[in-house]
Amino acid sequence: MVAGLAIPTGVLADASRGGLREPRLKHLASNPKGNQMRIVVIGGTGRLGSEIVARLEEDGHEAVAASPESGVDTITGEGLDEALAGADVVIDASNAPVWDDAAVLDFFQTSARNLTAATVSAGVKHYVAMSIVGADRLPESGYLRAKVAQEEVVNRALVPFTIVRATQFFEFIGRIADSSANGSTVRMPPALFQPAAVAELAAGVAKVAEGEPVNGIVEVAGPEPLRMDEAVARVLSAAGDARTVVTDPHAPYFGTELNTDSLVPDEGPRLTPTRFDDWLEQR
Ligand SMILES: NC(=O)c1ccc[n+]([C@@H]2O[C@H](COP(=O)([O-])OP(=O)(O)OC[C@H]3O[C@@H](n4cnc5c(N)ncnc54)[C@H](OP(=O)(O)O)[C@@H]3O)[C@@H](O)[C@H]2O)c1
Repeated sequence: MVAGLAIPTGVLADASRGGLREPRLKHLASNPKGNQMRIVVIGGTGRLGSEIVARLEEDGHEAVAASPESGVDTITGEGLDEALAGADVVIDASNAPVWDDAAVLDFFQTSARNLTAATVSAGVKHYVAMSIVGADRLPESGYLRAKVAQEEVVNRALVPFTIVRATQFFEFIGRIADSSANGSTVRMPPALFQPAAVAELAAGVAKVAEGEPVNGIVEVAGPEPLRMDEAVARVLSAAGDARTVVTDPHAPYFGTELNTDSLVPDEGPRLTPTRFDDWLEQR
């Protein structure tokens, strides 16, 4: 097949199910030249990773979901060289299985060291690492300190890279509530954040992976800033969860107090389209 004229496999699959659907045609716009690549998604079975894999397939790429379940472990190194053989791009969308401060730091540092080393050996052209908007502003949080340490390993590695700092997923807001719950009360700060639908963040990550490495940071965020206490209360209420949200400016968010803008993106993030109100309604 001539590379420039290749028909993305996602479209062929759709056609075989009875015709092309409009959303698929829209997705093609993000890969207009049909440049098919082999893209390995570490953590490709996770919440974000599985959406990235789906989106890359829709764009016509060979997307490989890699995780311990499929024999690829960034901590032990098992299966890494085999998975990365022939890859054009690697996306690290893995997450630590445990989040206490020492364990999460060890996970992200070890994982990033092993993965960047294997990526350099495999001659991969673009390494995309997932991080979090505001991670560098909140050193009191062990989890966010670990994300910054992961970024530093990527920064020092001898591989062309893009760090994608994403905002919180709408789908993660319930977990935020659980992390701050005490019995029937959930204490939340009135700080702003800019959450997004995970599938749309994944589309943003796929687009970054399809482009050239920037050797720096790209931010992807939801369309509007929201107050965290209010958003959490609305998610709980929509789920029929009777817990009460109490606004408390000192309530910790994964180990740190938040300022009003700690989790808000810098100037010029790439924005996802779906607003929180519409997402809640669709659910
Ligand atoms: N949650 C949010 O709102 C948010 C916002 C911005 C950025 N992020 C970032 O996005 C990334 C993904 O988060 P998520 O919530 O989608 O994570 P998740 O659902 O917990 O998925 C984690 C993935 O990592 C894999 N994994 C765990 N240990 C591994 C190892 N040793 N080697 C290879 N893969 C391993 C898991 O595989 P198994 O299923 O086989 O265990 C799973 O596929 C993280 O870096 C996170 O910091 C998250």
